[in-house]
Amino acid sequence: MAFTQQNLPACKPVLTPATVIATFLLMGFVFIPVGLVTLRASNTVVEIVDRYDIECIPEEYRSNKVAYIKDDSISKNCSRFIKMDFMESRAIPESTTVPFKVVLKPMRAPIYIYYQLDNYYQNHRRYVKSRSDQQLLHGLGYNDTSSCKPVESSDDQPIVPCGLIAWSLFNDSYSFSRGPSKLKVNRKNIAWKSDRDHKFGKHVYPFNFQNGTLIGGGKLDPHIPLSDQEDLIVWMRTAALPSFRKLYGKIDEDLDADDVIVVRLMNNYNTYSFGGKKKLVLSTSSWLGGKNDFLGFANIFVGSFCILISIIFLLLHMKNPR
Ligand SMILES: *[C@@H]1O[C@H](CO)[C@@H](O)[C@H](O)[C@H]1NC(C)=O
Ligand SMILES: *[C@@H]1O[C@H](CO)[C@@H](O)[C@H](O)[C@H]1NC(C)=O
Repeated sequence: MAFTQQNLPACKPVLTPATVIATFLLMGFVFIPVGLVTLRASNTVVEIVDRYDIECIPEEYRSNKVAYIKDDSISKNCSRFIKMDFMESRAIPESTTVPFKVVLKPMRAPIYIYYQLDNYYQNHRRYVKSRSDQQLLHGLGYNDTSSCKPVESSDDQPIVPCGLIAWSLFNDSYSFSRGPSKLKVNRKNIAWKSDRDHKFGKHVYPFNFQNGTLIGGGKLDPHIPLSDQEDLIVWMRTAALPSFRKLYGKIDEDLDADDVIVVRLMNNYNTYSFGGKKKLVLSTSSWLGGKNDFLGFANIFVGSFCILISIIFLLLHMKNPR
């Protein structure tokens, strides 16, 4: 047989100095333009990142943030101001807050709203396993919740949804206004459709969720099936890195360069006890997705490297032709 005999015709590139130099040169001329195009796309993305976990704590509690976040009798409301074209920050009279980030470009709809958590290990071995995918889909019809340790059951009934991941559901909330008018936040379709259709049950209701004494995070409306609890679905697609963003919603209006956006948020979620940071991110998108300068720079770097190598080969070859 031709194959076992290794008699098949094969392509044997002849590595003459000229082909090597030409190949590297060609690679350089492919990578650099690709890099420039991706960098350009990334530059059209306007992104605002506002870290709020510290400034949303009133001065008098800054030394004991955990006490503040755990005290249910204190209001967790907080306002943030995002002004688009203003070069210097200035104090704006109202509640606890100071502005903001500077952006000179208008933002085109859709504007994606994310929350970002830093120093949050959703990939921790015990955490990431503490769920029951069968239960998420079948509810009480599936009663083996041993994988959900240590949040399995209450009053001899499985908790739906069980497990640490669900229990620690993120529960800060945001609303936005521009001047006197509210900006509508579209919170539909933030989760993957495949997750909603195939992983979370249409007839599974979180009837006894977050009923215990120790509340880990957000509550769920017991009248809405899991397949429609999009915040939960987004949360349960766990992040691989300790710093991650999750989609909260979309604003379907353009924002102008001189708009002042007021963010009213509920600073509920306790990241203080483990030193996690919380950020609100507003971002437009390009064909590339969100902001990603790395891809562009990496391509340009590789391209330049190839050209450099070809030049070195060329010089060596000229100096010492075989
Ligand atoms: C699950 O439920 C069925 C019927 O309710 C019961 O017979 C069975 O013992 C339960 N299994 C476990 C592990 O609790
Ligand atoms: C939000 O989650 C925290 C835990 O991170 C919890 O203490 C608090 O009660 C929750 N608040 C609401 C309104 O769900």
